[in-house]
Amino acid sequence: MQRKYLIAANWKMNPAPQGAYEGGSPYMPRDDVDVAVFPTILDACKCLEAGIRTGSQHGALHPDGYGAHTGDVSMQMLKDSGCEFVLCGHSERRQYHGESDQDVANQVGVALEVGLRPVICMGETEQERELGQEKNIIQAQMSILPLNMDLTFAYEPVWAIGTGNTATPEQAQEMHAFIRSLLPDDKKGTAQILYGGSMKPENAEELLQQPDIDGGLIGGASLKPDQFAAIVETAATMKN
Ligand code: PGA
Repeated sequence: MQRKYLIAANWKMNPAPQGAYEGGSPYMPRDDVDVAVFPTILDACKCLEAGIRTGSQHGALHPDGYGAHTGDVSMQMLKDSGCEFVLCGHSERRQYHGESDQDVANQVGVALEVGLRPVICMGETEQERELGQEKNIIQAQMSILPLNMDLTFAYEPVWAIGTGNTATPEQAQEMHAFIRSLLPDDKKGTAQILYGGSMKPENAEELLQQPDIDGGLIGGASLKPDQFAAIVETAATMKN
C-alpha cells in the first residue's frame, strides 16, 4: 500500500512567513505530496484565500457549532470557512491548556462529525521515556479514539518538540509501527502517521524513509520557507 506523504507546517503562535501567500511558495498544494498549513486563526482566512490547504491548530468543542461562547471558534465554523484539518491534542495544548486524553477524543469525535480531518498528536515526555513508558502512553491516548474512522496521527515525542533533539529514525520507526499495530486491519495500510519533533532538512530524508513514517508535522523549520521547501522536495523525491 503506497501512502502519500503529508508535509504539514505548524506555524504555532507566529506570523505567516514572508511570501507564504505568493504563487510558487512552498506552502502551496501540489500533486505529488500533500502539503498543508496550520496557521493561527488570524491567518487561516488568508491561507484559504491563497489556495493553501489549511488546518486549524485548535477547534473549540461545541457540538452545537454556534452560540454564546466568547473567544471560541468551533469545529463547525472551521469547516464552514473551508478548513480541511484540525490538530487535536498537540502537547502544547495538553500542557498549557490542560487538555486530557478524553478532551482530545471528544475533539476528534466532533471534528469527524463536522467533516474535518483530525490530525491527532500523541507522544511521551522525556521522563516517561526514561521510565520505559512510551508505548503505554500512546496506547492510553489511542484506546479512547474511534480507530475505525479515517484518522491521521502525528507521533510527537514531547522531548523532541522545539528542542532540536530529534528522535532517531529507529526510535521513531518503532513508535510509528506500534501506533499502526493498534489500528484495525482495514486502516493499517491507509492511515497517515506523521513524525513531529525538530524535523528539518538535515534529518527529513532518514526519517521519511522509515516504512511507517508518512510525513512530518513541522514547527520551527516550517517558519523558514527555504527549509520547509527543502523538506517538501525531499518527500517529493522519495517513494513511500
Ligand atoms: P518543531 O515542532 O518542529 O519545532 O519541533 C513540531 C510540533 O510541535 O508540531
